[in-house]
Amino acid sequence: MKISLIGYMGSGKSTIGPELAVLSGLDYYDLDAEIEKHTGYTITETIFNKGELYFRKLEREKLHEILAKDNFVLSTGGGTPCYYDNIDVINKNSLSIYLQYNVKELFERLKGNTAERPLIAHLEGEPLQEYIGKHLFERSTYYDKATVVIKAGKLSNLEILKEIKNY
Ligand code: S3P
Repeated sequence: MKISLIGYMGSGKSTIGPELAVLSGLDYYDLDAEIEKHTGYTITETIFNKGELYFRKLEREKLHEILAKDNFVLSTGGGTPCYYDNIDVINKNSLSIYLQYNVKELFERLKGNTAERPLIAHLEGEPLQEYIGKHLFERSTYYDKATVVIKAGKLSNLEILKEIKNY
């Protein structure tokens, strides 16, 4: 079984992922953590020092490496499915699960919680909400291609895990 969690920043991919892996007896990978291990730098440092394009190439490389393995849960980064043909590769090689939240829910989850997220670290209040709205709209084309969509906004982590298990 190969499972990839996808979704916007702050959608809980890195919280649900390890729990799902333990429950299912699968290995766990966090794509950002794998990139950090590889470079020796935080994602923020990599994006600021080398640029986003460099980061996206590395992200694709690591994604392919992990998808070639077996028996895992993978938490992707919020942008992973939205570059190159990543979403098709994810869908071909794993069961993709989209943790879906609306703009307001994401804003509530992300506000005061942006420091380690280089794309939104400089934003707060209304500009942050506006950014999320526009960005989510652009990215939804990719997220909506997931095989399973979980409307996670009103669910506890346990309920999300149950929905995934039921599926
Ligand atoms: C990004 C999301 C981040 C990280 C990078 C870019 C994005 O991961 O990969 O900062 O483009 O949405 P999280 O979704 O875990 O915050």
